[in-house]
Amino acid sequence: MRNFSFQQNLEMLLDAGKIQARVADLGAQISNDYRGQTLHLVGVLKGAWMFMADLIRHLTVEVTIDFLGIQSYGSSSQPSGEVRITKDLDVSIAGRDVLVVEDILDTGRTFHYLEGVLSAHKPRSLKLVTLLDKASRRVIPVRADYVGFEIPDVFVVGYGLDYDQKYRQLPDVRFLPSVPSV
Ligand code: IMP
Ligand code: MG
Repeated sequence: MRNFSFQQNLEMLLDAGKIQARVADLGAQISNDYRGQTLHLVGVLKGAWMFMADLIRHLTVEVTIDFLGIQSYGSSSQPSGEVRITKDLDVSIAGRDVLVVEDILDTGRTFHYLEGVLSAHKPRSLKLVTLLDKASRRVIPVRADYVGFEIPDVFVVGYGLDYDQKYRQLPDVRFLPSVPSV
């Protein structure tokens, strides 16, 4: 087991084994639902990159990928809900079966915004998979088509998610007891 020098003040929420098992389940379910189709994955940078890299290895249908870079205004534990695109899609999603890959659904503002932007480009279908869902925090009633784990209202890091750009490399999801989710 790697011993990260900074992890002592982080509480474990989902260990790496549990995440890997759930990602495999999601991959099987998605492969089944899209059987015979080509799935176009759109990963939302930066948080979703690790999840997407693991998920894609469990997809048995034909897959193409792209990434969208977005940045929320405000601080990382207090996003304002205003979103800015920092990297646009490389290829058109028109007519494609698009599955957006997100790290976490919190208030729902980010995905609500993305859904508007992406559906304007006329995909054949548009669905969302999120690794984590803080359903109790929703401000806009969006829901994911596939959810890895519903989690309580705590600020989480690891497995791609950051606090102040740190902790992304952890193989598990931990929470910062001292940073209240607001
Ligand atoms: P939203 O509130 O659903 O718009 O989520 C905004 C964004 O805030 C997410 O895509 C994440 O990047 C980030 N975020 C929300 N909750 C957490 C958390 O607990 N840890 C790390 N990032 C978070
Ligand atoms: Mg995100």
